[in-house]
Amino acid sequence: MAILVTGGAGFIGSHTVVELLENGREVIILDDFSNSNPKTLDAIKKITGKDFKFYQMNYLNKENLEKVFEENSIDSVINFAGFKAVGESTQKPIEYYINNVSGALILLDTMKKYGVKKFVFSSSATVYGDPETIPITENCKTGGTTNPYGTTKLFIEQILKDTYSSDNTWDIAILRYFNPVGSHSSGLIGEEPKGRPNNLMPYIARVAAGVLDELSIFGNDYNTPDGTGVRDYIHVVDLAKGHIKALEKLDREKTGLYIYNLGTGIGYSVLDMVKAFEKATGKKVKYKIVDRRPGDIAMCYADPRKAREELGWRAELTIEDMCKDAWNYIEKNS
Ligand code: UFG
Repeated sequence: MAILVTGGAGFIGSHTVVELLENGREVIILDDFSNSNPKTLDAIKKITGKDFKFYQMNYLNKENLEKVFEENSIDSVINFAGFKAVGESTQKPIEYYINNVSGALILLDTMKKYGVKKFVFSSSATVYGDPETIPITENCKTGGTTNPYGTTKLFIEQILKDTYSSDNTWDIAILRYFNPVGSHSSGLIGEEPKGRPNNLMPYIARVAAGVLDELSIFGNDYNTPDGTGVRDYIHVVDLAKGHIKALEKLDREKTGLYIYNLGTGIGYSVLDMVKAFEKATGKKVKYKIVDRRPGDIAMCYADPRKAREELGWRAELTIEDMCKDAWNYIEKNS
């Protein structure tokens, strides 16, 4: 029985596929390369020495999607397909709602038709909005998202809750990611944002590489230890391993709807990240302080206890690993 991985050539998708293959799982990747690179598929094969089936297609095409379910024995689905740029989502809300929400609906409808009810969904800490309490537990209130991207995650979570309420034979895990960074230690797969990066780590790495002039730090007047924003950065390989543990939980339980934060539980500020990157790589990261970025919150980090207790998962890689591996990928691919 195979696991269908939509968006499996993307940043988190590709790292998860590596872990799945290394765990002896059969994988089918579906990707339209709208925000990923075909060379990632060869890189996955090189890292794992294993093969997988691949379909180049968009999951909005129900007819094609049904063919994938017709042609294969699919047992579960992990959904990474989705647009993910916060800023872009404010400019293209319709595209984001169609791609992320309609895409998820088409996928779920197709799963239902073929009797496949095991589903892992890539959600985000963004569903907590400006969090009520920190560290954030899974019981914290969700809502108050500040951009369409975040709202797509919130809507899909609600769709999954309603789906499970209507039919409790579904077996669903919602994984709320904090800030994924780094890359596989081989340097063969990693984060390749199109154009100027929005996120901190890829931006820092490109400043260090001399591709970009300097980092703009968005505000140093937040109510945080050094005034810059605090986040829970998690190595993408740890995050990928969280998916394996979530699938194992779904395999064990057979039915249910489970929600987990996937974070380290440690908050680092923007300045901490700059310093850690400089220390880990020996590269200088030039920066300046500018105004706050609209929609940013001061502080966001996870209480990861539930995932530890129920999944037996915890993040193991350090901030140094995250910086070194992000840099290794840039060095090997520029
Ligand atoms: N930052 C800068 N300069 C930059 C980029 C970021 O100072 O050039 C700061 C931000 O202000 C923030 C921190 O670095 O304090 C992290 O910013 P990112 O853009 O890397 O990440 P966000 O926390 O804003 O958002 C990320 C993902 C979202 C996800 C969210 C969940 O991009 O997809 O985490 O918390 F929803």
